[in-house]
Amino acid sequence: MRDALGEVQSVLVLGGGSDIGRALCVRLARGRCHTVVLAGRPEDGMDVVADAVLSAGATTVEQIHWESTDPSSHEQIVEEVFDRFGDIDLVYVPAGILGSQEAFDADPAFAAKAVEINFAGLVSSCLAVARRMRAQGHGVIVVMSSVAGVRTRADNFVYGSTKAGLDAFAQGLGDSLVGTGVRVVVVRPGFVHTKMTEGMDAAPFSTTPDAVAQLITDGLAKGQEVLWAPPLLKFPFAVFRNLPRLLWRRVAARG
Ligand SMILES: NC(=O)c1ccc[n+]([C@@H]2O[C@H](COP(=O)([O-])OP(=O)(O)OC[C@H]3O[C@@H](n4cnc5c(N)ncnc54)[C@H](OP(=O)(O)O)[C@@H]3O)[C@@H](O)[C@H]2O)c1
Repeated sequence: MRDALGEVQSVLVLGGGSDIGRALCVRLARGRCHTVVLAGRPEDGMDVVADAVLSAGATTVEQIHWESTDPSSHEQIVEEVFDRFGDIDLVYVPAGILGSQEAFDADPAFAAKAVEINFAGLVSSCLAVARRMRAQGHGVIVVMSSVAGVRTRADNFVYGSTKAGLDAFAQGLGDSLVGTGVRVVVVRPGFVHTKMTEGMDAAPFSTTPDAVAQLITDGLAKGQEVLWAPPLLKFPFAVFRNLPRLLWRRVAARG
């Protein structure tokens, strides 16, 4: 249950080894958050996140196995977390892979796997979370979309379309939860310096995990439902999403 100041006290992270997730959990643990449940794959780097979060002040940090491509397990995992840890104030959903368009073109089955990881597995998990949050009467689900989903580009349209689907799902879920005390926040970052983008040339307006984490905590405090990271990105993308396709192809080709 969020405390009298409205601060998050417990968080479940779906994709527990995420760099942005680590920055967010550390920030929350420096505040009032005492319980952090990291859900992910054993090889996922969750130990590093767990150590950082404990050092930041969390008192209960647990790691559990959650695989995005195994939707039949998601309901039970979510039920167990809520039964075991009581109220969960915040569910943060950063799981995802970037892949490359070349790799997806060469291996269509890998493209389908990306859809499972980035979209299908998050749909089944978020629906299970929404049911429990509706029952507890409060909570926030923060979903990591991307500017890549706002207008898909020829050079990463598989990744972009997984994010477009996730973004639409999260908005619809948020609309369906109005009046229940539960909220869904959609985060649309541009380029963030994390292990996902390691070795890539930074795009304009690139940002850091800490800056995204701060944006999320500020957004939670203000009750915002859509966050662009950095916020400035909402202006070019308001134009991009409405450009005629011929023009958009030229803009996107310039990178
Ligand atoms: N970094 C950026 O520039 C950027 C920009 C826009 C949006 N985003 C989105 O923001 C979110 C967080 O990104 P990040 O930069 O923090 O990336 P990250 O550090 O690579 O975190 C992604 C997490 O997803 C997990 N994951 C991947 N496949 C999984 C699966 N099948 N089952 C369970 N977990 C799985 C990864 O675990 P493993 O280590 O086991 O693979 C990793 O912990 C992602 O959804 C990303 O698409 C990032």
